[in-house]
Amino acid sequence: MLVLGIESSCDETGVAMVQGRGQGVPTLLAHALYSQIEMHQAFGGVVPELASRDHIRRVLPLTQEVLTACGRTLAEVDVVAYTRGPGLAGALLVGAGVACALGAALGKPVLGVHHLEGHLLSPFLSADPPEFPFVALLVSGGHTQLMRVDGVGRYELLGETIDDAAGEAFDKSAKLMGLGYPGGPALARMAEQGNPAAFKLPRPLLHSGNLDFSFAGLKTAVLVQAQRMVAAAGVAHFEALPEQARRDLAASTQAAIVEVLLKKSVAALQQTGLRRVVVAGGVGANRNLREQLNAECAKRGVRVHYPELHLCTDNGAMIAMAAAMRLQGGLQQPSTAYAFDVKPRWPLDSLPQL
Ligand code: KG4
Ligand code: ZN
Repeated sequence: MLVLGIESSCDETGVAMVQGRGQGVPTLLAHALYSQIEMHQAFGGVVPELASRDHIRRVLPLTQEVLTACGRTLAEVDVVAYTRGPGLAGALLVGAGVACALGAALGKPVLGVHHLEGHLLSPFLSADPPEFPFVALLVSGGHTQLMRVDGVGRYELLGETIDDAAGEAFDKSAKLMGLGYPGGPALARMAEQGNPAAFKLPRPLLHSGNLDFSFAGLKTAVLVQAQRMVAAAGVAHFEALPEQARRDLAASTQAAIVEVLLKKSVAALQQTGLRRVVVAGGVGANRNLREQLNAECAKRGVRVHYPELHLCTDNGAMIAMAAAMRLQGGLQQPSTAYAFDVKPRWPLDSLPQL
């Protein structure tokens, strides 16, 4: 079974071809990605209308690139999968529209995929795929959730952020430090040479006794600290501070976010009694998070899995993979109705399951 997957929920256009294999883990044949980062950089964040228009420009050339790379033709595709949500409505409509048009033209069925299920299952694209059940820490730009995962579609929400996502905390803190967009990787780079203990920043909800997160207060604390440093140094703005001071604040911010993610993940493992954790979503690319989680899990004899670094952020491979796993598991039938809607907001635990 050949599944073509199209991702267009935010600022990356991704296309991929995955081959389903009976009951085994499907194989990625090829994928192609175009990131709009440069285009949005001038605006300090994603401009939804520009994102939609660029997806239109990129999606068919990327599809051609994928077909060429894996030596297949459109006629061989069995199912066309696309991201149905959550994400930016206009951007989602591009992928959904193109997928349904392709499906209708080819006489092949289509399947709308949940973007977060794509992230959640993206570690299955790695050379060392996880086994069910596991705890999943989903840390993307818009979501921070801990889930118990017993199989494809069998997701139990254990806790989630009550305000900002961890990715947002990275992005917003980076923005006020003048690090531009997207802020997560830039702040992580800045933090490398910084002292994580230089500033005492809050670890929100660390001792709340549940598995929920809150990052909005942290961003405010970072802002207040930055303002204090600017005033004390008598400079005009944060970027005018000595490099080491900026590195220290970046490192302290990262340390606060990572500590909360780490401790809550450990609490989720304790609560569920599971011995395996999977990290997915863009923040899963963070090196400091990986190092600390690896060390903690090694100490506890817990297995930890990540998607490959380049598949942590949005891509088409995870969408094709999630579709292939759903179809193989018999969880859903693809549709030949070609009437599509998108779901900008869509809870993950509402998906069809066995
Ligand atoms: O999963 P993703 O590509 O998009 C969404 O579905 O939201 O995640 C993007 C998020 C952004 O907030 C970005 O700043 C963050 O992931 N991110 C990182 C790193 N790489 C990406 N955050 C911290 N450290 C990184 N290395
Ligand atoms: Zn994403």
